[in-house]
Amino acid sequence: MVDVVLLSGSPRKNSNTMEVLDVCAKEIEKNGLSTEIIPLRGMTIQSCVACNKCVEKGNCVLKDGLDEIIEKIRKADGFIPASPVYFGTARGDIMSALQRIGKVSRGTDDFLSGMVGGPIAVARRGGHTLTLQEMSMFFPINDMIMVGSRYWNMVFAHAEGTTNEDEEGIEMVKLFGENVAKLIQKIKS
Ligand SMILES: Cc1cc2nc3c(=O)[nH]c(=O)nc-3n(C[C@H](O)[C@H](O)[C@H](O)COP(=O)(O)O)c2cc1C
Repeated sequence: MVDVVLLSGSPRKNSNTMEVLDVCAKEIEKNGLSTEIIPLRGMTIQSCVACNKCVEKGNCVLKDGLDEIIEKIRKADGFIPASPVYFGTARGDIMSALQRIGKVSRGTDDFLSGMVGGPIAVARRGGHTLTLQEMSMFFPINDMIMVGSRYWNMVFAHAEGTTNEDEEGIEMVKLFGENVAKLIQKIKS
């Protein structure tokens, strides 16, 4: 069991999104909680097919591996999805994952209720805010607690390994990670 699950929507090997999640996870760990970063790389995440079988079975019945990720999120206190921006919006697979995670939570034991987190977006030049808005819709509808920072959780990067060039973006992600960890600890104390 881990305290905070971080989910990357990037398909790339040396992914900027993974790099940003690594920074965020390190900050959460510095503040006393355990983390696991799960990449969707190599997976093909289907959209929800509205079969409603999760209600009866307790998890998603689609066989693409998301059910195992859902089991990890079910046991966690925090959840942070992150996506590269594709044509101004989040990559499709992460939105498919979020919709199915939400559907399973609401159809079973409401495991997302009270969970702490927030989204992160990574892009070369533009589309971060709409991507964050898209992913943000997931939190309040699932009775979750979305955490702030001093700016939105967005990082500018294009070529592999360039996230550090956006110093302000990285500082904001660090503060966000720290805030997530501190809030979880306050809630649990
Ligand atoms: C299909 C596609 C669409 C993209 N669309 C945008 C975009 O709308 N705005 C932008 O700034 N960058 C865009 N990018 C660039 C990526 O968001 C950027 O390279 C990001 O760092 C990739 O993150 P990753 O390494 O984690 O996959 C696009 C990249 C791809 C492959």
